[in-house]
Amino acid sequence: MDDWLSVRVDAVSPLAQGIAQFDLRPVQGGELPSYAPGAHIDIELPGKICRSYSLLGGRGATERYQIAVLREPASRGGSAWLHDEARPGTLLRVARPRNHFALDEGEHGNVLIAGGIGVTPLWAMAQRLDELGRDWQMHYRARRRSGAALLQGMARHVEAGRIALSFADEDSPRPDLHAIVRSASPGTHFYCCGPTAMIDAFQQACAGVPAQRVHLERFSADTEPAPGGFAVRLARSGRSLVVPPGSSILDVLRQAGIDVPAACEQGICGACETTVLQGIPDHRDLVLSPAERAANRSLMICCSGAASPELLLDL
Ligand code: FES
Repeated sequence: MDDWLSVRVDAVSPLAQGIAQFDLRPVQGGELPSYAPGAHIDIELPGKICRSYSLLGGRGATERYQIAVLREPASRGGSAWLHDEARPGTLLRVARPRNHFALDEGEHGNVLIAGGIGVTPLWAMAQRLDELGRDWQMHYRARRRSGAALLQGMARHVEAGRIALSFADEDSPRPDLHAIVRSASPGTHFYCCGPTAMIDAFQQACAGVPAQRVHLERFSADTEPAPGGFAVRLARSGRSLVVPPGSSILDVLRQAGIDVPAACEQGICGACETTVLQGIPDHRDLVLSPAERAANRSLMICCSGAASPELLLDL
């Protein structure tokens, strides 16, 4: 089954300063594969780059995908190209939705912490929780109100006190994450997507919460890729390749002409997850949970390496 879908940009609309919404519809008509809140798609862009964007909305098959894209000042070509070049009618290839940030729809409280464009998956979750009648609250922090996406749809929840907004340029205090976690009812699940500093603070605030109730998604990586200096053996072809220092497994596979899926190349999207049959990975990604890391059944080949001299991969 081809994991890539051909879509056409159907509409581009401004959501906030520097943020545009792109509506994508299947080129062939019909419906696109369904997804749940928290899912993202990878978009293939010119120059062989691939970027991940969270999907708005969620649940059930759909005739379009909607993403909100912030034009990053230090864009590596992804967001700038979409903002400058993608127009209604532009054809794109996107991967089937994947979800490493799934919503637990159980009957418990939910606290959603959003920073900047990280609000995209959390707003999809909030809408779903609201639909289910679950107890939820959201704290949405952005640099400025004019640059905060999706405010319009949130108005009634802000009024009802379910969403607390705060903006740096209005000097409103940051959400007190420790106090929020402390005062949550027993069994509450906590979700966070935002810049690195916010995620780090969130992890500290949730230090005493069981891992299965703490959910986060980063949109930029600040971890060091694993050093090279080990070998990978490919179980299906029997080939053996050396990963030298300064290279990733993904680099080496590509140089050897082996086509493997990848998108962010920073260990945050999960596109390059590869099954490990033997050997101990040196995990450097931000996708796998602590339990998944400890199981050593797979690794992200764009950034992770080996803690053993060789890895046997299911490739
Ligand atoms: Fe995104 Fe490896 S390509 S985690």
